[in-house]
Parts: sequence; structure tokens; C-alpha cells
Amino acid sequence: MEWGSATLALYGVAAAALATSLVALRRRLQLSKAKHPSLTGHSHMARRVASFVPFYEYSEAELFRTDDAPDEIAARRRAGFMRLAALYQQRFAETIRRTAEVSDAISDLQFTDAYRVPFQYSRFVREHLKTGAFVQSSAGVKVTDLDGNSFYDLTGSYGVNLFGYDFYKETMGTGFEHARELGPVLGPYHPVIAENVKRLREISGLDEVSFHMSGTEAVMQAVRLARYHTRRSHLVRFCGAYHGWWGDVQPGIGNPVPAHETYTLKDMSEDSLRVLRTRHNIACVLVNPLQALHPNAGAPSDSSLVDSTRTAHFDKNAYTDWLKRLRAICTEQSVPLIFDEVFVGFRLAPGGAQEYFGVKADLVTYGKTLGGGLPIGVVCGRRDLMKRFRDDRPADICFARGTFNSHPYVMASMREFLRYFETPQARALYRDLDRIWNERANLLNRRLRQAALPVAVANMSSIWTVSYTQPSRYNWMLQFYLRAEGLALSWIGTGRLIFSLNYTDADFAAVADRFVAAAKAMQQDGWWRSDPALTNKSIKRRVLREMIAHRFSSRRDPPMR
Ligand SMILES: Cc1ncc(COP(=O)(O)O)c(C=O)c1O
Repeated sequence: MEWGSATLALYGVAAAALATSLVALRRRLQLSKAKHPSLTGHSHMARRVASFVPFYEYSEAELFRTDDAPDEIAARRRAGFMRLAALYQQRFAETIRRTAEVSDAISDLQFTDAYRVPFQYSRFVREHLKTGAFVQSSAGVKVTDLDGNSFYDLTGSYGVNLFGYDFYKETMGTGFEHARELGPVLGPYHPVIAENVKRLREISGLDEVSFHMSGTEAVMQAVRLARYHTRRSHLVRFCGAYHGWWGDVQPGIGNPVPAHETYTLKDMSEDSLRVLRTRHNIACVLVNPLQALHPNAGAPSDSSLVDSTRTAHFDKNAYTDWLKRLRAICTEQSVPLIFDEVFVGFRLAPGGAQEYFGVKADLVTYGKTLGGGLPIGVVCGRRDLMKRFRDDRPADICFARGTFNSHPYVMASMREFLRYFETPQARALYRDLDRIWNERANLLNRRLRQAALPVAVANMSSIWTVSYTQPSRYNWMLQFYLRAEGLALSWIGTGRLIFSLNYTDADFAAVADRFVAAAKAMQQDGWWRSDPALTNKSIKRRVLREMIAHRFSSRRDPPMR
């Protein structure tokens, strides 16, 4: 009898354990299904794969024919490359000289310089097509380097430049005037802060505001608050989305340690919604609405342009629908929805992405342009989520400080920005904004097509990206032709072009002329060639073969800089 009940109890425990592990297994499978199949969607695997990628580089003899181009084409490429190199050396002499003087001591410069193009080509390109790191002035939509060359600015200063550089010179200048009497006093606030808070509450439609020094910090704080209030551990971000360089939002390549409390899910996918519905450890869902332009793909840097698979397409309706569904699940599960509008806030609509897509978030982060030209990060949020202490547990707090938060000069400059932002003149800029930039993108695409050039642009309002319509290993060369035509790009090259809203039709026409001229010159120099055997797949396979061969061959060390 005793034996029988013990056995029964054992069976009961085993059955319960089995049921529990089946539930756990089912949830694990659901999570796996909600990961994007690319490496970008698998942070741990990406880090592991990255650690296996060996260094190797093409010799000068190989470099112009890594797609098995015939001799004649390789020679044309080499001649074109050397012509560009001579032009760079002559035209950018002083800028390059001054850059060389400091680059050994500025780590950031060494990094960006090394990752402008795929690493196998990097050293040779660096030696011959040096990119200067200095500019001395800005005016209108142009910047001027130390040699007096002026460039149409397509960098947008990482998105900060929304209304034109001259505007920010004004906001900073006037802001400095206002704050001068107080100077750099920190802790107590400059009175301008009250006006900023009032305007930010109106813009965000949220109750409270906190000030930080960068977008990265604003995101850190928003996530920390969500974890504090929900008492849950995991943040959900979507595949490819950039949210600054804090470890938890950058779980893959680039972060030396894994992020254990981050789920990276597929963007715009029912599988991800299922995970949100069934996991109970999710503290917040973090969305960067810029991903609408290239869902599930990372920041499109030219250093990863090994072939022509980079694509982009902005479908506002589809993304709106996705955000609405996300909103509904977050509400249902009491998970705070955070919009990271550090990039797109103020750029898409006066009320930011919330207005543009018609979806309300619980917390919103802003940055970049909001500082009126000075460093800034801001969190706006629901009152219950912004609170950093508990009335019933005085020792249980959510700590957040920062020496330079609410710096008087930044606050005063922000006030100038926000004051202008509310003027009819500024509001007029948002009228027809998408139509204007869509028409400009269409115009450029038409011209590229008419000239039979394998290049196309896609855009989300004034944020653009370039893609390539024919398989090639050399698309990254376009950035150097564009520069030669007087177009300034950021270090990620043709992956992201950011226009300020003070671009006139005439300015844009000049950019389009130069863009087409650059692509034509590149085509004439033989970098793009049609060959049925040259497909994106064959390129990828070849690069993979090279990597495997180098991985298992005797070690070749990276070059000394
Ligand atoms: C969406 C988004 N979030 C956060 C950040 C980080 O901002 P910051 O560079 O000011 O730290 C960026 C920067 O590009 C961003 O685009």
C-alpha cells in the first residue's frame, strides 16, 4: 500500500516535471521562431562567428579582380582608382596632412578609417584614398574642408542637423548669451528649463521629463525605469535596431560581453507578438522607428557591402499597422512601450514618430537635434513610469544622475530650438515634407535608371539609404567617387544620407547631378560589370571560402598601421 502511493506520488511528480519542461520547451521554441534567421537576429551566434573571421587582405594584384574580372576591366579599375588617388592627394592635401598628424592619437579616427570599406580592401584603400577628418566651416547646406573645398553635406551630423547649420549657430549663440550670467553652475537649474519641460510635455503628450547627456543615456534610463516598475528583467529590441552603444541594447557584434537580459526579436512578425504574449519576464519593448526603412537589418554601413544584397523600402502603412499591434499587446500585457526617437524625433512630424504613425508610447527618448546643436538625451514618460522611488519602500530606488544633466548652456540652447520649432515658419517645413523628399528620391532614381546605373535610393522622409541593383563586390567604391564630386558622407558611406530641411530644390538638383556624375564615373571605370556567373550568392560563397581557407591556413597577421 505504502509502496503503491509512493510510486503514484513519483509518477505525479514526474508528470508535473514533464508538463513543466514541455511548457518551457514550447516557450523556448516560440522564442527561437521569433528570431530573425540572419546573424543579426542571433546575437550570441553573431559574436561567435565574428570571433572566427580571420584577417586577410587582397594583394594589389588581386584587389581589382576579386570578381574574376578580365584583365582589361581590372586595368580600367586600377587606372580609375589611381586617378582618384591623385585627385585626392592634390585636392585634399592639407586636410589629409593634418589628419595624419593626429590619427595615431585618436582611437575613434583609427576605427572609422579602418571600417570604411570591407576589411579585405581596407589597407590599400586607406593608403591611397585618404579621407580627411577636418572641416573648418559650414554655411547653408555645405561644409568646407581645410583646403577650401566645399561639399554638400549629406552626413546631417548623424541626424542632429535638421534645420541647417546656420540655424544651430544661432540657437547656440543665443542660448550662450542667455546662460552666460549663470555659467556652468550644475545642480540648481537655469530657469529656462521650465519652458523646455512645458514644451516637451506638449510635444510628447507625456507627463514628465528627465534630461541626460546623450541619446545612449536616455535609452539606458528609459529601460532602467521600465525594469524598476515592472520588476521584470528582459528588454525586447528588434533585429537590426540601433539604440546607442550601451551593452544591453547592443547584444551582438561590437559588445565584448553578451547581454543576457535582452531578447532580440524579428521586426514586423507575428512570431514576436506571440513571445510578448507568453513570456512574463519582459520589462519593456524598445522600438527605433527608423527600422521601418530597413526592418531586421542593421545600420547600413559600407564596410559590410560585400555584395549587393542591401535593400530598403519604407512602407508607412505596414509599419503603422505593426506599431498598432505592438501597442495593443503591450497594453494587454502591461509592458511599457518605449519609442526611441533619438534619431527620428522632430524629423518626421512635429509630434515625432508618435504623431507620424499615430501610435502612443509610454516612454519616449529624444536627443540629437533637440539640444539645439549641443549634446543631449531626454526621456519623456508617463508619471507612474518616471518615478524613481517607492512611497511604501523608501530604500527601493531607481538611481539616475549625471554631472552635466540639465547643463545651463544646453538647456538655453534647447529653448531656442524649441521656440523656433513652434513658429509657423518651422511648422511650414513639415507640411508636405514626405511628398517633397519622396519626389526628390523618385527624381534621383529616375535619373539613375535613365543612365542605366545600378544604383537606387530608398528613403523615409529626409533619411536616405543607397542600394545597388546589380551584384558587385565594389559598391563601396561609390563613396569615394561621391566625395570627389563634392558630396560629404559620414563614415558609414552610402548606407545613410541625411538631409537637412533647408535643402532647396536647387540644392537638391546640384546633389542629384553630382550623384549621377559620380556613379557614371564609377561605371566608366569598370567597377560594375554584368556577368551571369556573378551573383550575390556566388560572391557570398567566395568570401566564405576565402575566410575558411585563411582560417585554417598558416596565420597571416594584420598589417601594422
Ligand atoms: C535611435 C537612436 N538611439 C540612440 C542613439 C544614441 O544616441 P547618442 O549617440 O547621442 O548616444 C542613437 C544615435 O545614433 C540613435 O539613432
